[in-house]
Amino acid sequence: MENRKKGRVMSGIRSTGFLHLGNYFGAIRNYVRMQEEYDCFFMVADIHTLTTHPDTKELKPNVHRVLAENIACGLDPEKVALYCQSHVFETAELYLYLNMLAYKGELEKTTTFKDKVRQHPENVNAGLLTYPVLMAADILLQRASYVPVGKDQEQHLEMSRNFANRFNHRYGEVFPEPYAFNFGEDLVKVPGLDGSGKMSKSENQNATIFLADDDETIRKKVMKAKTDAGPTTPNTPMPDYIANIFGLMKLVSAPEVIARYENDYNQAVIRYGDMKKQLAEDMVNFVAPIREKTEAIRNDEVYLRRVMELGAEKARKSAAETMEKVREVMGLKYY
Ligand code: TRP
Repeated sequence: MENRKKGRVMSGIRSTGFLHLGNYFGAIRNYVRMQEEYDCFFMVADIHTLTTHPDTKELKPNVHRVLAENIACGLDPEKVALYCQSHVFETAELYLYLNMLAYKGELEKTTTFKDKVRQHPENVNAGLLTYPVLMAADILLQRASYVPVGKDQEQHLEMSRNFANRFNHRYGEVFPEPYAFNFGEDLVKVPGLDGSGKMSKSENQNATIFLADDDETIRKKVMKAKTDAGPTTPNTPMPDYIANIFGLMKLVSAPEVIARYENDYNQAVIRYGDMKKQLAEDMVNFVAPIREKTEAIRNDEVYLRRVMELGAEKARKSAAETMEKVREVMGLKYY
């Protein structure tokens, strides 16, 4: 890809679960902005899924859906490398070499590993233990410096830096140090509709708007959002659950609409029923085109196949270059 861009970005997208507005405003929207300025590699982490979901029946529809959702949100497979982890065979080779640089003790101390052991004591496999090594292989294979991830992945990223440094010191400089990257802005936290916490795949599904939700579902969820009888005196401090509704409006509603409700609140004449109806319509108008586009892409297997082939070609080209260097500095060339 072009070298005129500012640097190399790489991130992995889990293929389990549906995307929601929290994913959109917290991550995907940033990817879409990055693709203009950076050399981007976005990967569906299907191999990682096997560490916890050994049954592969669901993989194909899930991979298709995640690809379709990301493209519908604005990722352009022509501009970025959008690919599946399992299609880049070089990943397995680098993972193998990095495993010799990863210590049992540090892997066992990883927070996500300890959580998984607690949740699934019957399936503590070696892949789960070396999950951070595989993630490091994904990143280092593309020699990426910038990795847009959430807080929950920071420990893994720190481990990736450690493996990169160990490799570089032991064998020779091949890998840049990868750092978390959020486009220079604080991550947007999208509040849930129940007045507490943020939108999430697993927690309260009624407090989360999914990109696949139909219009009626969106309306129902929004109308159920927690409110109260409203302020009785002007300029009352706002309770959290009301501030959250304003926060959600700021993501999807027009500035003059928000200003009007803020004004109503400060005058103590606000009607939350009207406000929620407005928010519901603005959310429907935001989500519906993405949902419809996702459906169209999901049903176009020929297009999806082309996307995956193109992505794998780009990712494998740069991976092959990296592995040439890796084998060379490791001294694995015997002739
Ligand atoms: N572990 C990441 C997650 O659970 C997904 C992932 C896999 C990833 N490989 C990656 C993220 C490489 C960034 C870079 O969300």
